[in-house]
Amino acid sequence: MSHSHTSNAPIAYEMGVVRQFAIMTVIWGIVGMAVGVFIAAQLVWPALNFDTPWLTYSRLRPLHTNAVIFAFGGCALFASSYYIAQRTCQTKLFMPALAKFTFWGWQLVILLAVASLPLGLTSTKEYAELEWPIDLLIAVIWVAYGTVFFGTLAKRTTSHIYVANWFFGAFIITIGVLHIINSMAVPVSLTKSYSMYSGATDAMIQWWYGHNAVGFFLTAAFLGMMYYFIPVQVGRPVYSYRLSVVHFWALISVYMWAGGHHLHYTALPDWTQSLAMAFSLVLFAPSWGGMINGIMSLSGAWDRLRTDPIIRFLVVALSFYGMSTFEGPMMSIKTVNALSHYTDWTIGHVHSGALGWVGMITIGSMYVLIPRIFERERMYSISLINLHFWLATLGVVIYIASLWISGITQGLMWRAVNEDGSLTYSFVEAVVASHPYWFGRFIGGALYLTGMLVMAYNVAMTVMNKKPVGADKLG
Ligand code: HEM
Ligand code: HEM
Repeated sequence: MSHSHTSNAPIAYEMGVVRQFAIMTVIWGIVGMAVGVFIAAQLVWPALNFDTPWLTYSRLRPLHTNAVIFAFGGCALFASSYYIAQRTCQTKLFMPALAKFTFWGWQLVILLAVASLPLGLTSTKEYAELEWPIDLLIAVIWVAYGTVFFGTLAKRTTSHIYVANWFFGAFIITIGVLHIINSMAVPVSLTKSYSMYSGATDAMIQWWYGHNAVGFFLTAAFLGMMYYFIPVQVGRPVYSYRLSVVHFWALISVYMWAGGHHLHYTALPDWTQSLAMAFSLVLFAPSWGGMINGIMSLSGAWDRLRTDPIIRFLVVALSFYGMSTFEGPMMSIKTVNALSHYTDWTIGHVHSGALGWVGMITIGSMYVLIPRIFERERMYSISLINLHFWLATLGVVIYIASLWISGITQGLMWRAVNEDGSLTYSFVEAVVASHPYWFGRFIGGALYLTGMLVMAYNVAMTVMNKKPVGADKLG
């Protein structure tokens, strides 16, 4: 049976919901990063909590992580998966009304997070802090998302399923399973519940969730974005389709086992920690498979890096992906982790992935997507994209370099002992030593956030259909 698309009539794609999610990506990006810059400032100037409980660092930190991962990253993934599924399957979204429900439902979840986290309502599980009624809502929306996405693949008019959709599909299934299992809890009131698990089991389930949230939310899904927008913007096919399939299966089967590296030297059975370390080291290979495949898609078109700031965003994103997936396996080695754990090194690693990879692949992809979904010839200003690129790049580099220095300083100061076995430094001495680097992180974050504001202006002018500026036209 042939599935090929025979009619020449244009397909009436469902783009309204893609536009909504794309715009909210920019808005939530600014909100989430502004909270990040604010908590970075609190670490430098503690008085910034104004002695107000709901402005304390402990409450705003989960607001930051939820906003950047699930609001900024989430909206970007909804937008791109709905767009890519339609384009590569040559068909309209399955159940458009349900897709609209996922948009409004997801915004409601975000608003409930913005309200409940500063109030101090939390399940205390990292990246899963939201209380049980919100968890139930997320589960319903996620099932709706899966229905729309897989329904669209099922009614495709093309014969095969493009690889980007494989990554999105794995992300949707896995995040649903992780969320439901990790959030199982016994409610005691509308705003308070206790995890169904306890002790080391609770920790293991939490980090099985946590690490796969990194692996499937912050990695696999964004690789789906990469596999569509790099070939589109470069105008060439993926370097190796075979490599994309091989590294897909390797990535999703290895990630599942690595969560224990978040629990080195804890009450978790020792063999589980070593198993996680071994799988984390293996994870290096499929990660670099994806990076190489993306970067090599540029072969023969390297000059485009000089002329097209959007391609620069996409390729530098992949470089940071490569860097953080080299750093991660190193940090999973128990003796290295003995130095890095609990220090700013981890936070630096997180943001080389978050700002360098997730942030930059999203920004680059949105610059490709937004003119298309609003039916504009191109973004309003290419020079402003270039300015954004340099603000973002400088911002990430300052952020992570500062935290490498403070992280290793902290690790070394904490472990230093005198001849009689007493500690050489008190804890507060390590805090004092870190202080200048926290200022560095604040500056790096502020630069990155400024870039997002430049983007918002450029997007607004594009959406309002202002005449594009400059003669610089992209080929
Ligand atoms: C091969 C790939 C990777 C491996 C093996 C890996 C490994 C690790 C290790 C060992 C830690 C430190 C755990 C600790 O001491 O507490 C860590 C933390 C973390 N990594 Fe990675 N990493 C990888 C890639 C990434 C990427 C690409 C991102 C982001 C996009 C990322 C996000 C995070 C986050 C958010 C944490 C902090 C978790 C927490 O304690 O809250 N990782 N990773
Ligand atoms: C302007 C940009 C940003 C700034 C200034 C910033 C700042 C911060 C700060 C100060 C922390 C707390 C660190 C600590 O407790 O020591 C943090 C944590 C975190 N941020 Fe950001 N952030 C930014 C952007 C992002 C983005 C875009 C993402 C994700 C896509 C992200 C993901 C995270 C995660 C996962 C953590 C928790 C790390 C852990 O527990 O190990 N951040 N951020």
